[in-house]
Amino acid sequence: MKKLLLAALLALLCVSLAGCARPGTDPASTQDQRLILVGFSQVGAESDWRKANTLSMQTALSAENGFRLILDDAQQKQEKQITAIRNFINQGVDYIVLAPTTEQGWETVLSEAKAAGIPVIIVDRMIEVADNSLFTCWIGSDFRKEGDEAVKWMEREKAPLRIVHLQGNIGSSAQIGRTEGLDAGLAVHPEWQLVFRASGDFTQAKGQELVEALLNEGTAFDLIYSENDNMAYGAIDALKKAGLQPGEDMKIVSFDASSTALHMILNGEISYDVECNPLHGPRVRAIIEQLEQGETPPKFTYVEETAFDREMLTEALIDSRGY
Ligand code: AHR
Repeated sequence: MKKLLLAALLALLCVSLAGCARPGTDPASTQDQRLILVGFSQVGAESDWRKANTLSMQTALSAENGFRLILDDAQQKQEKQITAIRNFINQGVDYIVLAPTTEQGWETVLSEAKAAGIPVIIVDRMIEVADNSLFTCWIGSDFRKEGDEAVKWMEREKAPLRIVHLQGNIGSSAQIGRTEGLDAGLAVHPEWQLVFRASGDFTQAKGQELVEALLNEGTAFDLIYSENDNMAYGAIDALKKAGLQPGEDMKIVSFDASSTALHMILNGEISYDVECNPLHGPRVRAIIEQLEQGETPPKFTYVEETAFDREMLTEALIDSRGY
């Protein structure tokens, strides 16, 4: 009789434990059990764009909306993203969202996610893998088109240009596409001259450092092609420190169109800014909801983007944009 009672108690304990623990994770609360668990591997916090992107994901994938989001900031290091994805697999997440640093090098870890049966959604930048079944779908920007847009504006200048090119992280889709756009422009404009090209890692500090060094060397130039707004802010600081007037002494073309940069267009410091839309949170949420319903989202989705110069901007328009 005693043995029977013990067995019944043990069975009861097993049932209740199975009901509240995911394999390999701390037991979650009953309420968490009803939430969709999403592991998000974010590139870092290198730019205003990136911070707006993180906030968009946190807002859309909130507990009120039925999600529990585990955010991992990789500080722009691919090896940290690979570790984060392995941790998500061990935690038994329902979905992995990856904003990849670079395009290459994802085969092994995404094969592990596939073997664990976890759908992987890629956002923002693209990845290049031989087997596209390693991810469920991708949503992000057409970075080459963004580069082409910037070049179209430069062509309207109708002048010989000595160009300083501040690149983003080498090997990221944002760098590859925007650099390809400029290279295509350089190939058909012999009157354009590339006087400097280096990576500023998409950060304000590096942008400033590179332009300060150039000015100290006495390099002359007419235009800075900055592959994101934060490097443009750094470049502007360097120009001002040297007593130069950005927008007058040299033009600046940038990417992202975040609100600080758009104000700099209004005050004449930035001449043209090509939008890169960071508001992917609601889009990722919609994809997960589709998958939950057993539907198949499109494999690749490019978001709509535009570009801004001074004529088309007003304070009201900037305020209405949300980043
Ligand atoms: O991948 C998008 C790029 O990454 C944005 O242009 C840049 O600001 C960010 O860091």
